[in-house]
Amino acid sequence: MSIHIGAEKGQIAETVLMPGDPYRAKWAAETFLKDVECINQVRGMLGFTGTWNGNRVTIHGSGMGMPSLSIYANELIRDFGAKNLIRIGSCGAMQEHINVRDVIIAMTASNLSTPSRGIFRELNFAPCADWSLLRGAVAAAEEKGTPTHVGGIYSSDVFYDERPDLNEQMIRHGILGVEMEAAELYTVAARHGARALAVLTVSDHLITGEALPSEERERSFGDMVEIALNAAFA
Ligand code: HPA
Repeated sequence: MSIHIGAEKGQIAETVLMPGDPYRAKWAAETFLKDVECINQVRGMLGFTGTWNGNRVTIHGSGMGMPSLSIYANELIRDFGAKNLIRIGSCGAMQEHINVRDVIIAMTASNLSTPSRGIFRELNFAPCADWSLLRGAVAAAEEKGTPTHVGGIYSSDVFYDERPDLNEQMIRHGILGVEMEAAELYTVAARHGARALAVLTVSDHLITGEALPSEERERSFGDMVEIALNAAFA
């Protein structure tokens, strides 16, 4: 057991998919895994371990925002030996050619700050995805035929943004989408020699204002889970 994860040692797989929402973790585990066991419920943050095509997988919520994700990513890696961490979540599109329901695979995650910011002092660390996971995810998305974009994203500290100029700069610099977790996931994984990737479904569009109706989110979310699972075991 760690401070925030009530699992026993050995109950967490080396590959962990991390949706923000604990109920998405439950849905994904029940939908895609076999022999599923709930391995964490501390503070209502749900984690499940099962198998996919004979491979052990854990699906564990991260909560919203980088401070929450940072707690779980640190404990999953340091206390439970997780080696491959794939965020599966939603994002807002920042480019006109991207549509809601499309998938974005994040090569890099620009940010104003992360919980790891203090370590780097005057340096600007560039959080980037693990190449082998990225390559596997792109191949899986191509095979599935899911409209997919690969490039930089922006990990913001706020959902309700009082600085629209920051989004404008990200858009100007070709950033594909905005979410709130990937930069810290990439940084923590890099620090501990683990592999990390973020595969995101576009749930809303910052330029057009379009948003995915809630009943459609589940199906789009399913494509992303399958892309992540295929990437992990490519
Ligand atoms: N901003 C930040 N995070 C998000 C968004 C957004 O518009 N959409 C989904 N996650």
